[in-house]
Amino acid sequence: MAEEIKPQIAKDPASKLLALVSHKLKTPLSIINGYSETILSTIQPGEMSSFNIQALRNISKQGQKMALLVDRLVHFSSINELKETDIKKEEINLYSVLTEVAAKCIFRDDAVNVNSSEETMRRKGPNVEIKCSEETTISADKKLFIMALEELLDNSIKFNNNMNKRLKLFYYEEEGQDVVAIADNGVGIKEEESHKIFETFYQVDDFFTGQIEGWGLGLALVKRIMALHKGHIAMRSQYGVGTIISLKFPKPQKDK
Ligand SMILES: Nc1ncnc2c1ncn2[C@@H]1O[C@H](COP(=O)(O)OP(=O)(O)O)[C@@H](O)[C@H]1O
Ligand SMILES: [Mg+2]
Repeated sequence: MAEEIKPQIAKDPASKLLALVSHKLKTPLSIINGYSETILSTIQPGEMSSFNIQALRNISKQGQKMALLVDRLVHFSSINELKETDIKKEEINLYSVLTEVAAKCIFRDDAVNVNSSEETMRRKGPNVEIKCSEETTISADKKLFIMALEELLDNSIKFNNNMNKRLKLFYYEEEGQDVVAIADNGVGIKEEESHKIFETFYQVDDFFTGQIEGWGLGLALVKRIMALHKGHIAMRSQYGVGTIISLKFPKPQKDK
Protein backbone atom coordinates (compact mmCIF):
# COMPACT_ATOMS: atom_id res chain seq x y z
CA MET A 1 0.00 0.00 0.00
CA ALA A 2 1.36 3.45 -0.90
CA GLU A 3 1.43 5.94 1.94
CA GLU A 4 1.72 9.62 1.19
CA ILE A 5 3.23 11.52 4.08
CA LYS A 6 2.58 15.25 3.98
CA PRO A 7 5.25 16.85 6.15
CA GLN A 8 4.41 20.03 8.02
CA ILE A 9 6.62 22.74 9.38
CA ALA A 10 5.65 23.60 12.92
CA LYS A 11 7.69 25.11 15.71
CA ASP A 12 6.40 23.40 18.81
CA PRO A 13 7.62 23.87 22.40
CA ALA A 14 8.90 20.26 22.44
CA SER A 15 11.37 20.92 19.61
CA LYS A 16 12.59 24.08 21.36
CA LEU A 17 13.10 22.09 24.56
CA LEU A 18 14.98 19.42 22.61
CA ALA A 19 17.33 22.01 21.11
CA LEU A 20 17.97 23.62 24.49
CA VAL A 21 18.53 20.39 26.42
CA SER A 22 20.85 18.89 23.83
CA HIS A 23 23.02 22.01 23.76
CA LYS A 24 23.12 22.15 27.57
CA LEU A 25 24.17 18.49 27.79
CA LYS A 26 27.24 18.99 25.62
CA THR A 27 29.45 20.71 28.23
CA PRO A 28 28.92 18.40 31.24
CA LEU A 29 29.29 15.37 28.97
CA SER A 30 32.56 16.53 27.50
CA ILE A 31 33.89 17.04 31.07
CA ILE A 32 32.78 13.53 32.16
CA ASN A 33 34.28 11.96 29.02
CA GLY A 34 37.46 14.04 29.13
CA TYR A 35 38.23 13.20 32.78
CA SER A 36 37.39 9.51 32.55
CA GLU A 37 39.58 9.10 29.44
CA THR A 38 42.47 11.05 31.01
CA ILE A 39 42.36 8.96 34.20
CA LEU A 40 42.21 5.71 32.20
CA SER A 41 45.18 6.66 30.05
CA THR A 42 47.41 7.91 32.91
CA ILE A 43 46.63 5.34 35.59
CA GLN A 44 49.67 3.60 37.15
CA PRO A 45 49.69 -0.16 38.00
CA GLY A 46 48.29 -0.81 41.50
CA GLU A 47 46.91 2.71 41.81
CA MET A 48 43.28 1.65 41.50
CA SER A 49 41.33 -1.55 42.16
CA SER A 50 40.25 -3.60 39.15
CA PHE A 51 36.62 -2.92 40.13
CA ASN A 52 37.20 0.85 39.93
CA ILE A 53 39.03 0.53 36.60
CA GLN A 54 36.13 -1.47 35.18
CA ALA A 55 33.66 1.07 36.52
CA LEU A 56 35.64 3.87 34.89
CA ARG A 57 35.71 1.99 31.57
CA ASN A 58 31.94 1.64 31.72
CA ILE A 59 31.51 5.34 32.50
CA SER A 60 33.73 6.18 29.54
CA LYS A 61 31.92 3.81 27.16
CA GLN A 62 28.45 5.01 28.12
CA GLY A 63 29.62 8.63 28.10
CA GLN A 64 30.84 8.25 24.52
CA LYS A 65 27.54 6.68 23.50
CA MET A 66 25.69 9.56 25.09
CA ALA A 67 27.94 12.09 23.36
CA LEU A 68 26.99 10.52 20.00
CA LEU A 69 23.31 10.82 20.88
CA VAL A 70 23.73 14.45 21.94
CA ASP A 71 25.56 15.24 18.67
CA ARG A 72 22.73 13.59 16.78
CA LEU A 73 20.15 15.59 18.75
CA VAL A 74 21.98 18.85 18.16
CA HIS A 75 22.16 18.04 14.44
CA PHE A 76 18.48 17.09 14.35
CA SER A 77 17.50 20.28 16.19
CA SER A 78 19.56 22.45 13.84
CA ILE A 79 17.68 21.04 10.83
CA ASN A 80 14.39 21.36 12.73
CA GLU A 81 15.07 25.03 13.31
CA LEU A 82 15.57 25.79 9.60
CA LYS A 83 12.91 27.73 7.72
CA GLU A 84 11.93 27.25 4.07
CA THR A 85 13.72 30.51 3.26
CA ASP A 86 17.00 29.21 4.77
CA ILE A 87 17.55 26.47 2.21
CA LYS A 88 19.68 27.01 -0.89
CA LYS A 89 18.13 25.26 -3.88
CA GLU A 90 20.33 24.54 -6.88
CA GLU A 91 20.27 22.32 -9.97
CA ILE A 92 21.87 19.08 -8.83
CA ASN A 93 23.21 16.41 -11.16
CA LEU A 94 21.34 13.44 -9.73
CA TYR A 95 23.48 10.64 -11.13
CA SER A 96 26.69 11.98 -9.65
CA VAL A 97 25.11 12.61 -6.23
CA LEU A 98 23.55 9.12 -6.11
CA THR A 99 26.88 7.53 -7.09
CA GLU A 100 28.76 9.49 -4.45
CA VAL A 101 26.29 8.75 -1.64
CA ALA A 102 25.99 5.05 -2.54
CA ALA A 103 29.78 4.61 -2.48
CA LYS A 104 30.01 6.22 0.97
CA CYS A 105 27.18 4.14 2.46
CA ILE A 106 28.45 0.79 1.22
CA PHE A 107 31.65 1.22 3.18
CA ARG A 108 29.76 2.06 6.34
CA ASP A 109 27.82 -1.21 6.35
CA ASP A 110 28.17 -2.21 9.99
CA ALA A 111 24.70 -3.75 10.28
CA VAL A 112 26.32 -7.11 9.56
CA ASN A 113 27.64 -7.08 13.12
CA VAL A 114 24.29 -8.17 14.53
CA ASN A 115 24.84 -11.72 13.29
CA SER A 116 27.38 -14.38 14.15
CA SER A 117 30.88 -13.88 12.81
CA GLU A 118 30.55 -16.93 10.58
CA GLU A 119 27.54 -15.43 8.87
CA THR A 120 29.30 -12.09 8.63
CA MET A 121 32.10 -13.77 6.68
CA ARG A 122 29.66 -15.22 4.14
CA ARG A 123 27.86 -11.95 3.54
CA LYS A 124 28.59 -9.80 0.55
CA GLY A 125 28.52 -6.02 0.65
CA PRO A 126 25.32 -4.39 -0.55
CA ASN A 127 24.74 -4.34 -4.29
CA VAL A 128 23.56 -0.92 -5.41
CA GLU A 129 21.97 -0.32 -8.79
CA ILE A 130 21.51 3.26 -9.95
CA LYS A 131 18.87 3.87 -12.58
CA CYS A 132 18.83 7.44 -13.81
CA SER A 133 20.23 9.20 -16.84
CA GLU A 134 23.52 11.02 -16.41
CA GLU A 135 21.84 14.27 -17.51
CA THR A 136 19.02 14.25 -14.95
CA THR A 137 18.97 17.25 -12.63
CA ILE A 138 16.73 18.05 -9.70
CA SER A 139 16.24 21.28 -7.81
CA ALA A 140 17.14 20.88 -4.14
CA ASP A 141 19.48 22.03 -1.39
CA LYS A 142 22.45 19.75 -2.09
CA LYS A 143 23.62 19.38 1.51
CA LEU A 144 20.14 18.55 2.80
CA PHE A 145 19.39 16.23 -0.12
CA ILE A 146 22.59 14.27 0.53
CA MET A 147 21.72 14.12 4.23
CA ALA A 148 18.28 12.66 3.42
CA LEU A 149 19.73 10.10 1.00
CA GLU A 150 22.33 9.00 3.54
CA GLU A 151 19.63 8.40 6.14
CA LEU A 152 17.57 6.32 3.70
CA LEU A 153 20.48 4.26 2.43
CA ASP A 154 21.66 3.70 5.96
CA ASN A 155 18.21 2.29 6.83
CA SER A 156 18.06 0.13 3.68
CA ILE A 157 21.38 -1.44 4.65
CA LYS A 158 20.77 -1.63 8.43
CA PHE A 159 17.26 -3.06 8.38
CA ASN A 160 18.25 -5.81 6.02
CA ASN A 161 19.35 -9.28 7.05
CA ASN A 162 19.50 -10.60 3.51
CA MET A 163 22.66 -12.46 2.51
CA ASN A 164 22.72 -10.40 -0.68
CA LYS A 165 21.50 -6.94 0.14
CA ARG A 166 20.14 -5.28 -2.97
CA LEU A 167 19.42 -1.58 -3.22
CA LYS A 168 18.04 0.23 -6.23
CA LEU A 169 18.17 4.01 -6.55
CA PHE A 170 16.02 5.36 -9.33
CA TYR A 171 14.45 8.49 -10.75
CA TYR A 172 11.14 9.18 -12.44
CA GLU A 173 8.81 12.08 -13.13
CA GLU A 174 5.29 12.06 -11.71
CA GLU A 175 2.64 14.77 -11.90
CA GLY A 176 5.11 17.62 -12.25
CA GLN A 177 7.38 16.27 -9.54
CA ASP A 178 10.91 14.86 -9.61
CA VAL A 179 10.91 11.59 -7.72
CA VAL A 180 14.00 9.91 -6.28
CA ALA A 181 13.30 6.45 -4.88
CA ILE A 182 15.29 3.94 -2.85
CA ALA A 183 14.18 0.31 -2.98
CA ASP A 184 15.62 -2.42 -0.79
CA ASN A 185 15.15 -6.12 -0.14
CA GLY A 186 15.28 -5.63 3.63
CA VAL A 187 13.02 -6.69 6.48
CA GLY A 188 10.10 -4.51 5.35
CA ILE A 189 7.66 -2.53 7.47
CA LYS A 190 4.27 -3.76 8.70
CA GLU A 191 1.31 -1.65 7.64
CA GLU A 192 0.43 -0.69 11.22
CA GLU A 193 3.93 0.80 11.64
CA SER A 194 3.94 2.74 8.37
CA HIS A 195 2.99 6.13 9.84
CA LYS A 196 4.71 5.76 13.18
CA ILE A 197 8.19 5.34 11.71
CA PHE A 198 8.21 9.01 10.62
CA GLU A 199 7.71 10.16 14.23
CA THR A 200 10.65 11.45 16.23
CA PHE A 201 12.35 8.68 18.30
CA TYR A 202 10.16 5.89 16.92
CA GLN A 203 11.77 2.55 16.15
CA VAL A 204 10.02 -0.69 15.30
CA ASP A 205 10.64 -3.10 18.12
CA ASP A 206 10.78 -6.61 16.73
CA PHE A 207 13.34 -9.39 16.82
CA PHE A 208 15.61 -8.07 14.08
CA THR A 209 15.22 -4.29 14.20
CA GLY A 210 15.37 -4.32 18.00
CA GLN A 211 19.03 -5.36 17.78
CA ILE A 212 20.03 -2.46 15.53
CA GLU A 213 21.55 0.67 17.04
CA GLY A 214 19.72 3.90 16.40
CA TRP A 215 17.53 6.56 17.97
CA GLY A 216 14.63 6.80 15.58
CA LEU A 217 15.57 10.23 14.28
CA GLY A 218 16.52 9.46 10.67
CA LEU A 219 13.11 9.39 9.01
CA ALA A 220 11.88 12.35 11.09
CA LEU A 221 14.90 14.23 9.74
CA VAL A 222 14.10 13.21 6.14
CA LYS A 223 10.48 14.27 6.64
CA ARG A 224 11.67 17.66 7.84
CA ILE A 225 14.03 18.05 4.88
CA MET A 226 11.19 17.27 2.47
CA ALA A 227 8.94 19.81 4.22
CA LEU A 228 11.63 22.46 3.73
CA HIS A 229 11.50 21.65 -0.02
CA LYS A 230 7.66 21.69 -0.08
CA GLY A 231 7.90 18.05 -1.12
CA HIS A 232 6.54 14.70 0.06
CA ILE A 233 7.73 11.30 1.13
CA ALA A 234 5.92 8.18 -0.02
CA MET A 235 6.49 4.73 1.41
CA ARG A 236 5.57 1.33 0.05
CA SER A 237 6.59 -1.78 1.89
CA GLN A 238 5.89 -5.45 2.17
CA TYR A 239 6.86 -7.07 5.43
CA GLY A 240 9.61 -9.62 4.86
CA VAL A 241 10.13 -8.54 1.25
CA GLY A 242 11.38 -4.98 1.12
CA THR A 243 10.67 -1.28 1.13
CA ILE A 244 10.56 1.58 -1.36
CA ILE A 245 10.85 5.11 -0.06
CA SER A 246 10.30 7.93 -2.55
CA LEU A 247 11.30 11.56 -2.17
CA LYS A 248 9.06 13.80 -4.28
CA PHE A 249 10.38 17.25 -5.14
CA PRO A 250 8.28 19.92 -6.85
CA LYS A 251 9.79 20.89 -10.20
CA PRO A 252 11.26 24.40 -10.28
CA GLN A 253 9.01 27.12 -11.78
CA LYS A 254 10.14 27.99 -15.32
CA ASP A 255 10.80 31.71 -15.96
CA LYS A 256 8.38 33.08 -18.54
N1 LIG B 1 14.29 0.54 4.78
C1 LIG B 1 13.72 0.10 5.90
N2 LIG B 1 13.37 -1.21 6.04
C2 LIG B 1 12.78 -1.66 7.18
N3 LIG B 1 12.53 -0.89 8.25
C3 LIG B 1 12.86 0.41 8.19
C4 LIG B 1 13.48 0.98 7.02
N4 LIG B 1 13.68 2.30 7.25
C5 LIG B 1 13.22 2.54 8.48
N5 LIG B 1 12.72 1.42 9.07
C6 LIG B 1 12.09 1.32 10.41
O1 LIG B 1 11.73 2.63 10.81
C7 LIG B 1 12.35 2.96 12.05
C8 LIG B 1 12.72 4.44 12.09
O2 LIG B 1 13.82 4.70 11.19
P1 LIG B 1 14.81 5.90 11.54
O3 LIG B 1 13.97 7.09 11.87
O4 LIG B 1 15.78 6.06 10.43
O5 LIG B 1 15.51 5.48 12.89
P2 LIG B 1 16.78 4.52 13.21
O6 LIG B 1 17.50 4.25 11.94
O7 LIG B 1 17.58 5.30 14.19
O8 LIG B 1 16.17 3.28 13.85
C9 LIG B 1 13.53 2.03 12.17
O9 LIG B 1 13.88 1.81 13.52
C10 LIG B 1 13.04 0.78 11.46
O10 LIG B 1 12.31 -0.01 12.35
MG1 LIG C 1 17.81 5.50 10.37
